[in-house]
Amino acid sequence: MLITRTIAETRTAIAHARAQGKRIGFVPTMGYLHEGHLQLIDIARQHSDFVVVSIFVNPTQFGPHEDFASYPRDFERDRTLCEARGADLIFAPEVSEMYPERSLITFQIEKLADRLCGARRPGHFNGVVLVVSKLFNIVQPDIAVFGQKDAQQLIIIKRLVQDLNFPVRIISAPTVREPDGLAMSSRNVYLSPTQRAQSTVLYKSLQRAKTLIESGERDAKRVIAEMERVIATASEAKIDYIEIVRVSDLQPIEKLDGLVLIALAVYFGKARLIDNIILNVSDRAVREIAALP
Ligand code: PAJ
Repeated sequence: MLITRTIAETRTAIAHARAQGKRIGFVPTMGYLHEGHLQLIDIARQHSDFVVVSIFVNPTQFGPHEDFASYPRDFERDRTLCEARGADLIFAPEVSEMYPERSLITFQIEKLADRLCGARRPGHFNGVVLVVSKLFNIVQPDIAVFGQKDAQQLIIIKRLVQDLNFPVRIISAPTVREPDGLAMSSRNVYLSPTQRAQSTVLYKSLQRAKTLIESGERDAKRVIAEMERVIATASEAKIDYIEIVRVSDLQPIEKLDGLVLIALAVYFGKARLIDNIILNVSDRAVREIAALP
């Protein structure tokens, strides 16, 4: 497995693989890898011949009071995990390599960043779209894999690629969970044992929402109220948001119908955890969508 730190050596290594006729697969990450990340590598492997993983804690997507400085980092551990999983190249640049100067070109995202995490983390998705565009231009992958765990990010990246004609196919991957339902996240290390035990209410509330909707409930407000009730059973949980929006444009809906995203963000102490499910709701049936087409 190759490890590169500069854009120039990354381009050279990937050009070499491409010259051998290999299709390039890409998994962008911020490191501190867990099984969720590693399954993205497996999926990339199924669709390509040379898998590139980037590990870069991107400063432009963190707000001034967020956890950029304290975000967990452990390159040696990440390197071992990637190698065991069969990645071909890790691109792990310094901030100065990716941003030798502050970028004067920025993105403006309409509609899709208005709600959910976009509303609570102003500028966050501009930073994500900036760094992902730069990474796509450096790696020039044929396919790139993103997790449904960050559903708003996935939907924005799909639209980025569509609107700006990036020649890359975006593949979405189902959320990987701990045995008790907690979605895997690098930020789970922030949880105290008590908070970790209580954090199962997130997935429980999503399952409760699904059951309610399956039994015929179509009123978003009533579903959200029930989810709030489930989360309130955890004494350390502080709800940031619970929203139900259309998948197509991430705008809120009152009467559930079609593809809907039920998403939440909840604080446990300083850890802000997010989770979601996507349901296809029709008059009669409700189906969970594990990976967006
Ligand atoms: P990071 O949080 O490290 O996540 C990297 C990728 O792993 C994302 O596509 C995310 O959705 C996916 N992922 C995280 N937890 C997952 C889980 N439990 N199951 C399945 N997939 C999971 O997302 C970012 O980094 C950054 O914003 C990035 C796209 C790299 C841009 O900086």
